[in-house]
Amino acid sequence: MGQNYTFEVGERMDNFRFYVPTDVRFGKDRLEEELTDVLDAYGKTVLLAYGGGSIKKNGLYDQITKLLEANGNTVVELSGIEPNPRTETVDRGVALCREHQVDVILAVGGGSTIDCAKVVAAGFYFDQSAWDLVLARRTFAGPALPLVTVLTLAATGSEMNSGAVISNLATNQKLGVGAASMIPKASFLDPQNTFTVPQYQTAAGSADILSHLFENYFKVTEGTDVQDGIAEGLMKTVIKNCPIALKTPDDYDARANLMWASSLALNGLTGGGKGGAWSCHPMEHELSAFYDITHGVGLAILTPRWMEYILSDTTVGKFQQFAHNVWGITETDPFTAAKKGIQATYDFFKACGIPMTLPEVGIDEEKLEIMAEQAVKHSTIEKAAYVPLTAADVTNIYQECLTESSFI
Ligand code: NZQ
Ligand code: ZN
Repeated sequence: MGQNYTFEVGERMDNFRFYVPTDVRFGKDRLEEELTDVLDAYGKTVLLAYGGGSIKKNGLYDQITKLLEANGNTVVELSGIEPNPRTETVDRGVALCREHQVDVILAVGGGSTIDCAKVVAAGFYFDQSAWDLVLARRTFAGPALPLVTVLTLAATGSEMNSGAVISNLATNQKLGVGAASMIPKASFLDPQNTFTVPQYQTAAGSADILSHLFENYFKVTEGTDVQDGIAEGLMKTVIKNCPIALKTPDDYDARANLMWASSLALNGLTGGGKGGAWSCHPMEHELSAFYDITHGVGLAILTPRWMEYILSDTTVGKFQQFAHNVWGITETDPFTAAKKGIQATYDFFKACGIPMTLPEVGIDEEKLEIMAEQAVKHSTIEKAAYVPLTAADVTNIYQECLTESSFI
């Protein structure tokens, strides 16, 4: 990997389990030949879960319902799954599955649809409400109905992981839950299904992929060349291909690379062996919980400010490595290189058309402190993050997001 960088914090690579049994069917036009075979392994009664209607506009709904009809499936629909899916929608899905004794769930959409479907799948066997299941967080270990996905937006990695994030707007909570039983059995990843993703969501999804990579890359663990080298390659892939997809939405290679990067960024490949808490996600989930904003946009706003806030003698080596290997910055002075890398990250998000201040997404000073307290309460950011953050630190980072920034 060329140059050596000095890290002053660190533990060696942790033990880890890499268990990703999802049968990935990547590429063009595979549904016609393969979808019903995959579903038939689990049964004939299918819950078709989808969002607010994008799949009706782009023809995917018609294509899939025709295939299921020709195959003699009984189809029950859970429609209208919201971006930042609501716990009430999960309850509605669970009720449908019980009423119709569903055998398998087919989720067609982005991360919100897939996340909702995961918790519906587990909720089927769970005798309390969906929200009680979410409150179990990562300790949940119950069974789930089999889930098959058709991904339509490159962003979350939900198509190939065990996690789901559900919102409860009544309590201003947005929390993650996950279990091995919720990992999709199969996922169809056809880049053509992302050609219709609007620019704003393409940019937000790319920011989310990058954030998953950053969250794993900036950890105290040392000696993780495999994970960090893969992460750098995936970061460069997103940085190269997002602008192409923004300019030419039907560029197959750009969409294909973003799609596969989405899955690999959060399936354990770059995070296995690197313990500790994430930083920007807990802070972002509060912005979404209180203001229902787009997840990737919140992450893009927070990330460069967080990077600058935690830059210190202890962390500068890793930021220098990031600047050199990801952004191609040749500056040799560690702090100058690090700051140029942070500036490049900010400029990239801005050039992708992402609003880079909180007021632009409707967030002012009013709730910053309460959101900061909740971010600390709902995570281990205060104890186990790359650089541990108190509620006061989180408030400071939010405040930096109120106006435009310059890092050099
Ligand atoms: O609802 P429809 O009509 O389908 O429209 C969606 C939605 O408005 C639209 N869209 C999706 N595919 C499209 C399309 N529009 C046109 N053409 C297509 N092909 O895009 C909008 C956003 O969709 P959504 O599913 O909300 O986006 P995303 O995939 O970014 O998912 C975000 C959710 O996932 C959670 C986030 O917190 C958020 O709730 N996350 C899930 C994770 C996981 N399961 O591992 C990890 C992430 O860090 C994240 O927290
Ligand atoms: Zn994310």
